[in-house]
Amino acid sequence: MSANKESIGRVFTVAIVLCVVSALFVAGSVVLLRPDQAANKLLDTQTNILTAAGLYGDGVNVSEVFEQRIDIRLVDLRSGELVSDPAAVGIADVVTYDQGVATKDPARSEAIPAERDIAKLKRKAHFAKVYLIKGNDGALEKVVLPVSGYGLWSTMYGYLVLGADLNTVVGITFTEHGETPGLGGEIDNPKWKALWPGKKIYDDAGNVVAHLKKGGINKEDPLDVAHNVDGLAGATLTSDGVSHLVKFWLGDDGFGPFLKKLKAQGA
Ligand SMILES: Cc1cc2nc3c(=O)[nH]c(=O)nc-3n(C[C@H](O)[C@H](O)[C@H](O)COP(=O)(O)O)c2cc1C
Repeated sequence: MSANKESIGRVFTVAIVLCVVSALFVAGSVVLLRPDQAANKLLDTQTNILTAAGLYGDGVNVSEVFEQRIDIRLVDLRSGELVSDPAAVGIADVVTYDQGVATKDPARSEAIPAERDIAKLKRKAHFAKVYLIKGNDGALEKVVLPVSGYGLWSTMYGYLVLGADLNTVVGITFTEHGETPGLGGEIDNPKWKALWPGKKIYDDAGNVVAHLKKGGINKEDPLDVAHNVDGLAGATLTSDGVSHLVKFWLGDDGFGPFLKKLKAQGA
C-alpha cells in the first residue's frame, strides 16, 4: 500500500517537473523569438509594399531599397498635413508606429460617424503612416497608402500605391484578411491584382470613382476601362468591401485632403 502511494507521488512529481520545464521552455522560446518575429513581420510588410510598388524582384535587397528610396512619413488625417515633427505629436519612432494600435486608443483616434463609415471601420487613427517613394533624382515617384475595410468576414488590410500624378494606380496588395480562399480570398490572386495598375482613382471633378464591377468591366466602355476593375466571381460582398475601402481611404475622410495638398505643392 505504502509502496503504491510512493509510486503515485513519484508520478506526480515527474509530471509537475515536466510541466514546469515545458512551460519555462515555451515561455523562453516566445521571449527569445519575439525580436525575430517582429523583424520578419517588418520584412514581410516591406516586401509586400515593394511588390505593390513594382520595385520587388529577384536579388532586390528590401531593407536597402527602403533605406535609400522610401521616406516613411505620418499624415495627420484631420488636416491632411504631413507631420514635420513626429516627436511633437507623441510619436517617437515613425517606423514602429502602429496605426492599428492607435486606432483602438480613444486618445489617439476618433469615431467615424456611421453615415460616413462606408468601409465599416468604426474608428480611425489621427495619424496614418505613408510611404513616399523617390526616384533617382529625388522627386516623388509613388505614394504608398495603407488602406483597410470590411469584406464579408473580416477587415482587410493592405496598401494601395499611386503614381506621381496621385491618381493612377501602380499596384495594390492585401497583407491581412480573413476572406474565404478561392472566393473573397482571390484578392490575393496576382492575376486579379494585375488588373489594377493604370486605373485612375478620381474623375476629372476629383471624385473617387474607381470600383469593382460585378460581372467584370465592359471593355468597350472607356470609363470602365479607365477606372474600374473586374469584381471577384462569387464574392460580391468582398468585392464591394474593396470598392468601399478605396472610396473611404482615397476620399475626404481618408487621404483625399493629403493627396490634394501634395498635388498643390507640385508633387
Ligand atoms: C462558405 C462560404 C464562404 C463564402 N465566402 C465568401 C467570401 O469570402 N466573400 C464573398 O464575397 N462571398 C463569399 N461567399 C458568398 C456570399 O455569401 C455571397 O453569396 C456572394 O458574395 C455573392 O456574390 P456573387 O453575387 O458574385 O455570387 C461565401 C459563401 C459561402 C457559402
